[in-house]
Amino acid sequence: MIKLKVSMLNSVALLAGLSLLAACSAPEESDSNTASTGTSFNTTLDVAQVMTLVLEPASDILWDSGGWVLDAAGYEELYPTTDEGWDYVRAQAAVVVESGNMLALPGRALDNDAWMIYSEGLSSAGMLAMEAAAAQNKEDFFQAGAQIYSVCSACHQAYSPDILDVFDEEAD
Ligand code: HEC
Repeated sequence: MIKLKVSMLNSVALLAGLSLLAACSAPEESDSNTASTGTSFNTTLDVAQVMTLVLEPASDILWDSGGWVLDAAGYEELYPTTDEGWDYVRAQAAVVVESGNMLALPGRALDNDAWMIYSEGLSSAGMLAMEAAAAQNKEDFFQAGAQIYSVCSACHQAYSPDILDVFDEEAD
């Protein structure tokens, strides 16, 4: 069966060039990255665990909730169709917003430079997705999902280039 899926991931290559983060500098080596704030955070989960247990599940739901699918059964939109459905994706977008903060915590942040810009970028893109979900605006929601994806990719490219393969598998 031929199955064509046009979801957010397919538009990413297009948007990559438009990334808001294009101006970011490459990460620089920094000696000290965990300036003490006098406050303690529980950072038992390492960055990889925040990725796989918190951020990726939420963002996958967002990406699976935008775009459309064409298969033997016909054309099907992936967007939520009920208020509850939009509330649900809005909650996943909130997880993305807060993940930006989680990544910026001392003990997780890999530096006090580009890492922080990517983390803030993740929260900002998550806010756009939250707003679009609240307004049930499909076009804006799709764009926000693509923007989230471009932040993931930009940070991975800078800090963990092998990770890009993870997404190639997923996009198939
Ligand atoms: C601020 C930088 C940053 C952002 C933003 C970011 N990541 Fe990551 N990600 C990393 C780093 C660094 C690793 C490698 C962690 C390790 O292996 O120690 C990683 C690893 C991963 C992994 C592999 C985890 C494993 O099993 O080793 C997945 C999956 C992942 N990220 C998903 C995402 C998704 C999805 C997004 C966007 C919604 C995202 N990441 C945004 C920095 C980031």
